[in-house]
Amino acid sequence: MKPSRFPARLAVVAVALASAGSILLYAQRPQRPAPPKGPWMNTSLSPDERADMVLKEMTLDEKIALLHGVGMPTDDPVTPENAPSNRGVGYAVGVPRLGIPGIDMSDAAYGVRSSQANGRYATALPANVAAAASWDADAAYEYGALIGRELRAQGYNMTLGGGTNLTREPRNGRTFEYLGEDPILAGTLIARLIEGTQSAHVIGDIKHYAFNDQESGRNSGNVSIDKRAGHESDLLAFEIGVTKGHPAAVMCSYNRVNGDFACENEWLLKDVLKKNWQFPGFVVSDWGGTHSTEKASAAGLDNEQPGKFFYSDKYKAAVDAGRIPMAELDDHIHRILRSMFAAGVIDYPRQRAVVDPFAGFETSRKIEEGGIVLLKNNKDILPIEGAKVKSIAVIGAHSDVGMISGGGSAQVDPIGGSAILPPGQGATHWQQQIWFPSSPLKAIKSRAPNANVTFDPGVDPAAAAAAAKGADVVVVFAYQWESEGMDLPSLALPKYKSGDKEVDQDAIIDAVAKANSHVVVVLETGSPVTMPWVDAPEAIVEAWYSGSDGASALGNILFGSVNPSGKLPNTFPKSDADLPHPTISKPEKIHFDGASTPEMWAKGLPPFPINYDEGLKVGYKWYDAEKKPVLFPFGYGLSYTTYGYSDLDVKTGDTVTVTFKLENKGKRDGAEIAEIYAELPDSAQEPPKRLVGFTKVKLGSKEKKTVTVEIDRKYLSIWDESKDAWSLVPGKYTFLVGGSSDKLPEKKTVSLQ
Ligand code: BGC
Repeated sequence: MKPSRFPARLAVVAVALASAGSILLYAQRPQRPAPPKGPWMNTSLSPDERADMVLKEMTLDEKIALLHGVGMPTDDPVTPENAPSNRGVGYAVGVPRLGIPGIDMSDAAYGVRSSQANGRYATALPANVAAAASWDADAAYEYGALIGRELRAQGYNMTLGGGTNLTREPRNGRTFEYLGEDPILAGTLIARLIEGTQSAHVIGDIKHYAFNDQESGRNSGNVSIDKRAGHESDLLAFEIGVTKGHPAAVMCSYNRVNGDFACENEWLLKDVLKKNWQFPGFVVSDWGGTHSTEKASAAGLDNEQPGKFFYSDKYKAAVDAGRIPMAELDDHIHRILRSMFAAGVIDYPRQRAVVDPFAGFETSRKIEEGGIVLLKNNKDILPIEGAKVKSIAVIGAHSDVGMISGGGSAQVDPIGGSAILPPGQGATHWQQQIWFPSSPLKAIKSRAPNANVTFDPGVDPAAAAAAAKGADVVVVFAYQWESEGMDLPSLALPKYKSGDKEVDQDAIIDAVAKANSHVVVVLETGSPVTMPWVDAPEAIVEAWYSGSDGASALGNILFGSVNPSGKLPNTFPKSDADLPHPTISKPEKIHFDGASTPEMWAKGLPPFPINYDEGLKVGYKWYDAEKKPVLFPFGYGLSYTTYGYSDLDVKTGDTVTVTFKLENKGKRDGAEIAEIYAELPDSAQEPPKRLVGFTKVKLGSKEKKTVTVEIDRKYLSIWDESKDAWSLVPGKYTFLVGGSSDKLPEKKTVSLQ
């Protein structure tokens, strides 16, 4: 039997709800909430003042109703409670009497989920990791804004996007949903993405808080990490996201952290998030991630989703018995209401509209063009000269019909269903490989009008080699599919089944490269991959999961109408053995045996240890500190031009200002991601260097610009556990500037106090 995604307890609720509401099932039609009125509709008041005015009017039952979900409208039958919902994954009833709408939630990691089930359309953006590879904060805003617009058009008023977990474990099956291994890169981009989403009057979210960095045993693993390491790594990404992006909501994660579940973890929710970062919004549990009533409430969990085991009757009983003070309940409600006012979901009630698929395609393509990373380009095999090339062999990975996407709750449904399923069949299962009908073969053919372009499925090394032989250029595709709810067994390109054949993608690439020396490998992956064949092809292109119009973006890069400008947000190591943990820590059990009860679930599965003893040495900080050579370093990526750096200057004051000159030395226009790293004084006891700033600069051919980047002093600080605060260690700081973490030609040392 397939392990189900949610604990059996959810099924129990669904059945209970269904029978309780069965008489009313057919009569229910979405109701419009009363038009908002009341003194709290005075928009000159602050969200906090407005929330308090509503709160004063609310009965205990109304407060309790806002504390929890009502099941999963996507999967559950219609009930009186969920009837007004938009049939997303979560719904909290509002306070219709006071004109406060329900909170209608949809997953929306790289686009709005479950469109197919609702007969709607949503744009798939490139995977979040591709957006991270663009290192482009404005593109991140556009990414978020598109999601916000499409959520609103579909009738939702809250996103469950905003994945910000660091790539501490690159085999994590959700690496594609996150923004890489560096906290400053991930935090900066997620902040802008959230701002974009909330600009559409949708409640923004950041998740999964925190340290949910692997999927194996995600519901039971107990992460051990010390506070300094935590603050300087994963928590820093969230700190930047929360304090700069101002999401209305934070989703706490499934796992335990230092002994307590994240959704009832006082250190994470109260001390760090609400006190230290002054987060004014509300904390929503990951789906089924609530494990208690009093403990979770006191620790700072504001809303249980998607059900109501702990935050409904039990909660009311605890309030009635005085075990939960009314002030604590009021604080949760205040946070939810003030977030609704702040995000604008009350002042701008949801308004359905037709999604603009054309604008969506364009945004998706542009973000992909900015995120594709050119890893290798010997003899300038790329760009291909479209008018001149006479023959191209296209091989492998269904590149005749489509490009792969990431699975799980992030999955976006493609137009017409998956390219390798019969028409009309889309994401029928949340862990199903979905290929977007965006054909690289067609994109290549249309850009090479004079060439004989052939296709071979790339399932048999001899056949692939024969197809490659004699072509002017060979473009061979390889993929690595990943999804929520699973981790990759290794970073090797996966083997897959085609009929009764097992396809070894490494062997296909090897065979093709032996048959032809002009080979371009295109990777469609969410995580880094190892490349035993790295020396064989002339070019390697990382296209990630490329979204609705991925093939056009890829075509534009391969044929040079767009100059590649993406850089790696994750290190590509040489082998799994070089990772901080060569094997992933896994639990003995990932599900309860037999029927699970709410009591069993409350207790949780027995914890198993996930020791993050690499601490703050995440990604390149690990390889640098351990002196492990890598395949392709963090921040690395080529283009069809070259850039020169000079004249670095560093001025110190309240902030640190880094100035340098950047020149495009080649014949093509381009955009260079300039990266600034700092080496801290020895006494800080930090890894050799950390990213402290970056900017993406457009430069015409031969153009030279002076570039200035302000560095926040926090980014130069360490977390001082004795003060429970950031602290700058006085001493000498060396700033390094360049185009990749391993190539930083400009260097300057200054003293900082
Ligand atoms: C995932 C969340 C998601 C939620 C609702 C959970 O399993 O971890 O990321 O938002 O389900 O679908």
